[in-house]
Amino acid sequence: MNAVVIYESLTGNTEKAAGFMVDELVSQGVSAIACSTTMVNYQALADADLVIVGSWTDGLFLFGQKPANAGRLSQLPFLTGKKAAVFCTYAIETGKTLEKLEDIIRDRGADVIGGMAIRRNKLQEGSIEFVSRVLGVVSV
Ligand SMILES: Cc1cc2nc3c(=O)[nH]c(=O)nc-3n(C[C@H](O)[C@H](O)[C@H](O)COP(=O)(O)O)c2cc1C
Repeated sequence: MNAVVIYESLTGNTEKAAGFMVDELVSQGVSAIACSTTMVNYQALADADLVIVGSWTDGLFLFGQKPANAGRLSQLPFLTGKKAAVFCTYAIETGKTLEKLEDIIRDRGADVIGGMAIRRNKLQEGSIEFVSRVLGVVSV
């Protein structure tokens, strides 16, 4: 199975989480790479069976949360026929960030299997847990 982890990151947390996910996917026998929304690897994306998309939580901390740079996420290439999972990193509260991100990725044509919020002080543990949940649904 081939996977791509696409991340939207401002201060590096979501990028770090994407890196931990790639390490975990590779250790589970999945071919995986990470790329930023600003430098999508189109060939890897075309070859991918599984696409993981992550963003950071942008809002007023206790309300108004949304995936950061949703406009850029909604312009990702079409993902028709691919399984997808989403994640967000956050500090305090995610509100409806994950649901909004799921909607954006579903609109790109992907079959979204679920999502997980990863707290910024638990990036590695959260990323490993997320990959294990995803691989529990999508067979390697
Ligand atoms: C402008 C701004 C708004 C934010 N709003 C929220 C928020 O509403 N809720 C929350 O839990 N975290 C919020 N955060 C924290 C980030 O979502 C968190 O630090 C995230 O891990 C950053 O990811 P990055 O390092 O990949 O950019 C906000 C951060 C910034 C810079």
